[in-house]
Amino acid sequence: MPTPEPTVTADNDPNRSTAHLTIREPDDWHLHLRDDAMLALATDITARQFARAIVMPNLVPPVTTVAAAEAYRDRILGALPQGRRFTPLMTAYLTDEIDADEIGTGFERGVFAACKLYPAGATTNSAAGVTDVRKIRPVLERMQTIGMPLLVHGEVASSDIDIFDREAVFLETVLAPMLRDFPALKVVLEHITTADSVQFIQAAGPTLAATITPHHLRIDRNALFEGGLRPHAYCLPVAKRRHHRTALRQAAVSGDPKFFLGTDSAPHLKQDKESACGCAGIFSAPAALESYALTFDEEGALDRLEAFASEFGPRFYGLPLNEGTISLHREAHTLPETITRGDVSVVPFHAGETLAWRAAERADR
Ligand code: NCD
Ligand code: ZN
Repeated sequence: MPTPEPTVTADNDPNRSTAHLTIREPDDWHLHLRDDAMLALATDITARQFARAIVMPNLVPPVTTVAAAEAYRDRILGALPQGRRFTPLMTAYLTDEIDADEIGTGFERGVFAACKLYPAGATTNSAAGVTDVRKIRPVLERMQTIGMPLLVHGEVASSDIDIFDREAVFLETVLAPMLRDFPALKVVLEHITTADSVQFIQAAGPTLAATITPHHLRIDRNALFEGGLRPHAYCLPVAKRRHHRTALRQAAVSGDPKFFLGTDSAPHLKQDKESACGCAGIFSAPAALESYALTFDEEGALDRLEAFASEFGPRFYGLPLNEGTISLHREAHTLPETITRGDVSVVPFHAGETLAWRAAERADR
């Protein structure tokens, strides 16, 4: 089948503003689908827009074995609405004790697409993560040999380091030495939030790439305190100053294949966010494509959305591009304040906001 070209249709108005956009089906290269009651809701919503997703392994307990990943993959496929085509790409959660053979076998059998490095204590469900990268050298060596990507939560976990500096410090103290030791290891620096990371990625070789979330392209740290404490704007890495957001936007729309889409959609129950100790994570899946489209539109770069959303990710992972398409229309629509199914209530990113773009659901039933 010939690969479809993106079609951008201009209105007849004098500004020739784009009214419709049809792009190749996108993938989400960083996603939390959770488990149990949340799983059905999260899977359904993501599969409306994305054909594949890299599924994070930070369940309790974490996904550390091939058997656990296969079982989780089955639960995800079982949670999909009837007839929906969606491929979960599973990841292994690295711990200090992780066995290189288990990882290698899982990759060679096509179960694991990548490994996830959470520095212990850095974020939600990371307590079992890696305390010192030196402890996982045999695994990194194996991954480098077999071409298995390492996905990195790029923050140091130390409470001595200011929370707004933890990503920048990670680049210097952990990532740079690791890349020197494993120069051929494929690494994705996940959900980058700083100008420092943008520059670091740009300066590195082709084995290093980064994902950018819809929310870090739109909010800066003021959003956490706008008129009061805003738990739904809280995620990790936490949003930074405005100039960092500017650098992320420039990187996302630049056409540089090292920056691609990863929503880090991380739903938590509404009551767990609106709490004296609110969970980190923004549920960005419900209007993910619309949110990216808004940003690309504001930056005058709608023609670059397709490559960011649907081409650079699979190319980095060495996977085929999707064949189907999805359409976006310039059509104002308002997001609900909460999304509820049974006992599960979640507040989405852009809750209650009217967005200028609407994505059609993937037509694959
Ligand atoms: C994620 C979660 O809730 O699992 N939270 C978040 O703030 N992004 C974990 C993560 O990706 O850091
Ligand atoms: Zn995440």
